[in-house]
Amino acid sequence: MTAKISIIGAGMTGATTAHWLSEREIADLVLVDVVEGMPQGKGLDMLEAMPIIGSDSHVLGTNDYADTAGSDIIIVTAGLARKPGMSRDDLLKVNAEIVGKAVTETLKYSPNAIYIILTNPLDTMAYLAMKVGNLPRERVIGQAGILDSARMRAFVAMETGVSVENIDCYVLGGHGDEMVPLTRHSNIAGVPLREYLPADRLAAIVERTRKGGGEIVNLLKTGSAYYAPAAACAQMAEAILKDKRLIVPCAAYMQGEYGLNDMFFGVPVMLGRNGLEKIIEYSLDGEEKAAFDKSAAAVRETHEALKAIVSL
Ligand code: 2OP
Repeated sequence: MTAKISIIGAGMTGATTAHWLSEREIADLVLVDVVEGMPQGKGLDMLEAMPIIGSDSHVLGTNDYADTAGSDIIIVTAGLARKPGMSRDDLLKVNAEIVGKAVTETLKYSPNAIYIILTNPLDTMAYLAMKVGNLPRERVIGQAGILDSARMRAFVAMETGVSVENIDCYVLGGHGDEMVPLTRHSNIAGVPLREYLPADRLAAIVERTRKGGGEIVNLLKTGSAYYAPAAACAQMAEAILKDKRLIVPCAAYMQGEYGLNDMFFGVPVMLGRNGLEKIIEYSLDGEEKAAFDKSAAAVRETHEALKAIVSL
């Protein structure tokens, strides 16, 4: 393959991201982890699956950042995951150290890479990555909105029996319980969700979406979701490598958009070969704006907590 994607963190999410990507056959893949033998084992196992699925993606597992040299995209999944009773923000201190190191080390070998950040607390880890790496905002994008919107789409499909392909949902804002599912912009084959579903059923779907990550954490008990988060990362990486100019909700660095500044926030973005090509601004009504402001305040609080422990 001519393109190269490195995934930092070979745990459930990192390895599953490599799995989804290997099937797409769009890049050679490097899986990096500090645990000795584990990335090598997972990488080799995946490589041995390629003849069966018919993909020529090369997969390498390693403990050495030098193997990531020349990556087009770096996906950072390393860090602790939530356990039941924890919020994403509880992970701040330990994950800040891990993400900071991942960015500094990978930049030495891939100075032009585009970063996709997945580690929680997501918006704040993306902010940290951009500041630590001194990167332009186009090259740091946080994964969250695709996942949150996919959860909502799945719940709408379960409720209505319509194909997930006909369901478009847009969940914006920070990746926390104050996220903003935009029901006015969401639709089933062009029919607004608000017309398709009774208000109480729609409200229940919105609530379940907001708590979607916690629902999985409570079921798994030992970790958080990984299939859907990893699928979202793979979609982002593909959109970037293929210069698809795909519009999806992601966490991006705000420079005045939606009235926000110097923070990461979930908004519709266009993904292409430069990474963040463009931020799309929806017109929001009063209720939506209030929900945005509440979510932004929660993200800003976590950014401030980060700045109190790391000098950026
Ligand atoms: C989630 O929402 C892990 O934050 C991720 O499941």
